[in-house]
Amino acid sequence: MPISYLEESHIFAIRTARSSYLFGINDSGTVQHLYWGSPVHAGDCADLLRAKHHSSFDAAVDRETEEYGGWGGLLYAEPALKVTFGDGVRDLLLRYDGYLMDKPEELVIRLADEYYALKVNLHYRVFPEFDLIERYVTITNGEPSAVRIEQAMSAIWSVLSLPAYRLTHVTGRWAGEYQLRSDVLSEGKKVLESRRGFTGPHANPWFAIDDGTASETSGHVWFGALGWSGNWKIAAEKTTFGHLRVSGGINDFDGSFAIAPGESYTSPVFTGGFCENGFGGMSRQLHRYQKAAILPGSRERKVLYNSWEATEFAVNVQDQKVLAHKAARIGVERFVVDDGWFGARNSDRAGLGDWQVNPQKFPKGLNELIDEVKSLGMDFGIWVEPESVNPDSDLYRAHPEWVYQFPTRAGSQLRNQLLLNLGLPEVKQFVLDFMTNLLSSYDISFIKWDMNRTVTEPGIADERQQREHSDWIRHVNNLYEIWGELRRRFPNVEFETCAGGGARIDLGILRFADQAWISDNTDALDRLHIQEGFTYAYDPSVMMCWVTESPHGMNGRRLPLSFRFHSAMMGGLGIGANIDRWSEDELAEAKDYVEQYKRIRLITMHGDLYRLSSLRHSNVAACQYVARDGQESVVFAFQNAQHFGAWERRLTLQGLDPDALYEVDAGDGRAVTQHGSTLMQVGVALGFSGDGQSRMIRIARVER
Ligand code: GLA
Repeated sequence: MPISYLEESHIFAIRTARSSYLFGINDSGTVQHLYWGSPVHAGDCADLLRAKHHSSFDAAVDRETEEYGGWGGLLYAEPALKVTFGDGVRDLLLRYDGYLMDKPEELVIRLADEYYALKVNLHYRVFPEFDLIERYVTITNGEPSAVRIEQAMSAIWSVLSLPAYRLTHVTGRWAGEYQLRSDVLSEGKKVLESRRGFTGPHANPWFAIDDGTASETSGHVWFGALGWSGNWKIAAEKTTFGHLRVSGGINDFDGSFAIAPGESYTSPVFTGGFCENGFGGMSRQLHRYQKAAILPGSRERKVLYNSWEATEFAVNVQDQKVLAHKAARIGVERFVVDDGWFGARNSDRAGLGDWQVNPQKFPKGLNELIDEVKSLGMDFGIWVEPESVNPDSDLYRAHPEWVYQFPTRAGSQLRNQLLLNLGLPEVKQFVLDFMTNLLSSYDISFIKWDMNRTVTEPGIADERQQREHSDWIRHVNNLYEIWGELRRRFPNVEFETCAGGGARIDLGILRFADQAWISDNTDALDRLHIQEGFTYAYDPSVMMCWVTESPHGMNGRRLPLSFRFHSAMMGGLGIGANIDRWSEDELAEAKDYVEQYKRIRLITMHGDLYRLSSLRHSNVAACQYVARDGQESVVFAFQNAQHFGAWERRLTLQGLDPDALYEVDAGDGRAVTQHGSTLMQVGVALGFSGDGQSRMIRIARVER
């Protein structure tokens, strides 16, 4: 049983395979967090629940570790919940009001205000095999008047007794997403957040905490990821009593909303976990959890070609057909037309919102291209950006009132576009209808769903309809409902989440998305950094990577095709170059890599990822994927630059059986058979000499 209640000591104990999580009900009826970390005997921990008196100046400091504290009374830390009741009282005093345990892995702790009929249920869903707990809350208003919610976090994760707390998170910007940062926290708050209406490239709702000594392979790590694709906030607060509380949920900034009498609100899920084996172990737990409980499917990732970088907006049926023929020749399985196929979309200045096939570009309709693509043995995929509109579009001319706008303001344009208020029922219906029409009219197997601007001026043009601030939340909920409905209506269509690169990837949207476009930066070397940061939190099976041109358009960097392919083969392989310009030799080489990829993709998709070496600490980057049955493994290794004369770099592997024999094929005729222990302790010689080198090494267990 993963969850138990110790009646005598009033302690709830959550036990996963490799962790314990304890909280209890103290004398004042407060639910108090007690412990989270390596497994302990809950029965030994009764004294942790004792009131911790400090001084009259810091009364009830025990509340610092409240499991879910409302703002009121003596709480001065970041509150989990802040409300204003109908009579104007803003003081919330939540007390324990019983528990429910309908399923062995699920616990509901009921809290109620001392005076008002406001109930808060804390939900815990335990994943014992991944050492993870999903937490969220439901808030029910039993009062006769509306209750205003000013802040409602999904959960607070507490770590109580480390000598130092180091926070690891990702930051970035367009074309430079998922850059890792680590800092030891001093007292006060470090806030990671988005106020941009979507998850954002500047930060991502994932965190990891350690004592400053954890490494990729060792040390205790506490971590969490929030499933919300709108404004979010994660606040890591180190108190002056040496505790750390990490609260997370929908951002309270401009985010208050009302719960009507008799109604409830349910927060997004905030997943937390503990790992004894460093950041590598943490990532593998998160990856396995995402595969098992978040991602909608586990279909084999098809090799795709996307013509965006080749043609940009200059899409036409002839050029696309030429590209499709070349793509089929190198083994591509899915041909995707990106932006530019619809309306008057000849640049980013017009057409967005007019989802009719452009008759100049496709005089005989889109089926001419789809038929050609299908006859070449490939699937067809297409790009859409349903939430956006250019002012220069028929849609905007017909419905200027559909965009976010304050009545007295002109509104900001970004990439020459405005954003539709998806919270409006008529806008939601429009998006659902045109997508349904598109997917029922054509044989489309893949949708790349983009979102190329942030939310600004989140109001409604018609001031009579000016409503509460919860448009932020409604947009995201309606987006999820649309994706959910489209998946139900078109179960064979796969969806990719994209937002000007990787700005909308989180555990919320990933419940609906098969794959994710993690960055518009396709420079294979920059990608090693971006992909590394991405895999700290997210499963590489969703990570789409394209092979593009050299020299690269963004950085001017020249890299051989081998390096570009190997870098992209670590996730879902795509090709985004103008392959019509590739020589016969390049096409033949590409075909060979595509074939190699098809042989290893089940390992990268379903296996466990070990990050062996990082460009943050060395000139070699390397990742190893080990099949879940342990029979096969594949390693990708890269040397960005050679320094100070050649020396033989050996790469020690991970995740193998020390006593088993493995055949190691480095692709250069150097196949050897060695024990797992040798490969993990002595390592594999990489044989690199020079800049821009890379290698794919295949490892197969040999039966004796
Ligand atoms: C965004 C996407 C790109 C491409 C363009 C099209 O930037 O991230 O991959 O689809 O839009 O306009």
